[in-house]
Amino acid sequence: MNYQSGFGNEFASEAVAGVLPVGQNSPQRVAHGLYAEQLSGTAFTAPRHANRRSWLYRIRPAAVHEPFRPLAHATWHNRFDEAPATPNQLRWDPWPLAGAPADFLDGLVTLAGNGGAAEQAGIGIHVYAANRSMQGRYFYDADAELLIVPQHGRLRLATELGVLDVEPLEIAVIPRGVRFRVDLPDAVARGYVCENFGALLRLPELGPIGSNGLANARDFLTPHAAYEDVEGAFELIAKFQGTLWSAKIGHSPLDVVAWHGNYAPYKYDLRRFNTVGSISFDHPDPSIFTVLTSPSAVAGTANVDFAIFPPRWLVAQHTFRPPWFHRNIASEFMGLITGVYDAKAEGFAPGGASLHNCMTGHGPDAATFEKASSADLSKPDVIDATMAFMFETAKVIRPTRQALAAPQLQSDYQQCWQGLEKHYRSPRQA
Ligand SMILES: [Fe+2]
Repeated sequence: MNYQSGFGNEFASEAVAGVLPVGQNSPQRVAHGLYAEQLSGTAFTAPRHANRRSWLYRIRPAAVHEPFRPLAHATWHNRFDEAPATPNQLRWDPWPLAGAPADFLDGLVTLAGNGGAAEQAGIGIHVYAANRSMQGRYFYDADAELLIVPQHGRLRLATELGVLDVEPLEIAVIPRGVRFRVDLPDAVARGYVCENFGALLRLPELGPIGSNGLANARDFLTPHAAYEDVEGAFELIAKFQGTLWSAKIGHSPLDVVAWHGNYAPYKYDLRRFNTVGSISFDHPDPSIFTVLTSPSAVAGTANVDFAIFPPRWLVAQHTFRPPWFHRNIASEFMGLITGVYDAKAEGFAPGGASLHNCMTGHGPDAATFEKASSADLSKPDVIDATMAFMFETAKVIRPTRQALAAPQLQSDYQQCWQGLEKHYRSPRQA
């Protein structure tokens, strides 16, 4: 297998045998003239179960580059206060596939977010559309770890710690600070990105579910060491405190020959999610679909939960099987990777998005309500060939000005509920 299996394990990998020091991290001289460098993802004194760091053995230290200078980017930012947050239900058509030449960085468009890099809390929500590989440039995000959700086309993520190949229905997480380049094996690629400014994503607690289920740790895959020993006129782009910076660099920063530690990129195949649901009656809360969670300082209240709505059987009796109408304190951004989402008859297309903020009423559209209210419950509903997801946050998700001005914003989204008729007949009038 090309990957190391497990979540947050103490991994070890060397592309050249004999590089990793034995019994210590920072020997006086590293084998083959390499440099030792630690990359910390949590505070030095974080509790052992949450402590993340890796030791990298590399051709040149990360400090070797020219000074950074500000780099303008038209559509990627963390300004979540440009437009008033709205209590309206919002939905967008799919973002178009890239037309003009654009790599992964060029093609990022910020749709919404909350918090920011300075407070190390909240998330940024983006879509990307790219039609070429990053050429001669490398990137790292000092503000956040990046949760990448491909929707169309594959990505090859060449990182300091090795290569991740991901395709739609897989996700990848690039830790804060890890340098990488995005190559496109296909002509075009499109998807979603969550910038997580808060605590590192981790697997949710399972409680009474027990020791197995939902996303199993062994299905998370981390790359083996792979390095580039190349020199040239390259660019290192950093995202730092909400904006981009560019520095000249005379070599590939993907020059880590060996590494060990538990702070590393990983990928996960969403088709491996072990979905749990009701086998008696009623519709459980969507927290049972949580793949990864970034906790906040408040117990049980996530900075962000990444939840999915995968293929599953609905068997609950005397129950309205799709999600009921609801208003939550949490705010919900949804995307659709493929297929149809079971609470909407139409209008939510793969590559599209919806936003339902704190206490904004939403739920099944009129067509779905009528259908599910009279459905034959003697048979299961088999929901197949679909994958929707949600970034759910404790704080209100504020759409950006460009998201509200985009032609993809549907002006008639609220109409999907206007056909919900009054069925109530007062018994006093009988
Ligand atoms: Fe919802």
